[in-house]
Amino acid sequence: MNGKRREVMKHLEGFAAEAIPTLTLSQDEYWQPADFLPDMTQPDAFEQIRALQDQAKGLSEDALAVTIGDMITEEALPSYTTWISQTEGFALNGEPRGPWGLWLGKWAAEENRHGDVLNRYLYLTGRVNMREVEVTIQNLISDGGDTQTADDPYRAFTYTSFQEKATQFSHGNLAAYARKAGDDTLGKLCGYVAADENRHAKAYRLFFQKCLDTDTNDALIAFADVMKTKITMPAMFMRERGKKMGETFKHFADIAERMSIYTPIHYTEILESLLNDWDIEHLKGLNDKAEAAQEYLCRLPERYRKIAERVAGRVSKTVSETVHTFSWFDVPTADPKSVADTA
Ligand SMILES: [Fe+2]
Ligand SMILES: [Fe+2]
Repeated sequence: MNGKRREVMKHLEGFAAEAIPTLTLSQDEYWQPADFLPDMTQPDAFEQIRALQDQAKGLSEDALAVTIGDMITEEALPSYTTWISQTEGFALNGEPRGPWGLWLGKWAAEENRHGDVLNRYLYLTGRVNMREVEVTIQNLISDGGDTQTADDPYRAFTYTSFQEKATQFSHGNLAAYARKAGDDTLGKLCGYVAADENRHAKAYRLFFQKCLDTDTNDALIAFADVMKTKITMPAMFMRERGKKMGETFKHFADIAERMSIYTPIHYTEILESLLNDWDIEHLKGLNDKAEAAQEYLCRLPERYRKIAERVAGRVSKTVSETVHTFSWFDVPTADPKSVADTA
């Protein structure tokens, strides 16, 4: 299998080399975290911080928990970069770097700003026990994740096409919430992050489209395989100090759902948009296995909608009433070293 994938990725290198400059920005066009946050070189730096803190006072603890969960997800970037670098065709080493490796480097550098800006913002709000948050980040990076795509570029492209759109929804909806709550700083920075995620989603969709054009049967089968195992979020193992693997992620996801930041309906909408973009329904000349994959995929949104409606009923009854407490809001201890070795 990998031999064929390798050939396809090699074949698409010319396309990738031409496409990457259109999918990325020039250095001067990129925003940086410093663009949105108090400038510590200025004489009024502390007034700027106070203004940021005043705005953040309007955020509910749930909204802060979602922002922290989003930030931790972004901060585990080393794991995601390692994962993609193991995908067929994506080696980061080599001189000169191949086009896929070039894309990976640029993508990782763009993503790196997301964790940075959210982390710094949350620190400055003065409402978060940053040490507990940092323990959660460290736990997540050391625990890793499981995207179940192995080294298969077709699976990786469908996963990332989906995942980038999911993060766009999450950051975009959080931006809208923050603006309503009077926090323009969080609204603005999440809006910019969401725009990056949208651009990434477009890139990965285009990459998969090319695989589909080149190797239709196998690409379609891979897409169905990814959806059969269901897309698990890359931060699925998130845990606070002393919690079980994934326990904190579950609580974070519950809150995102009840705030309508990211829900099973979004999951279904993303799947539908992928099916439409790649025009899965109208693919012709397929072998038996690919035809079965096509049929499975085209029926999936309806199945998900039914499940999502059932889940929505459950959410209104139980999830909305469940109170999750996070160590991220614990009052810091006087001597942080006394808890340093119990992560
Ligand atoms: Fe991101
Ligand atoms: Fe992204």
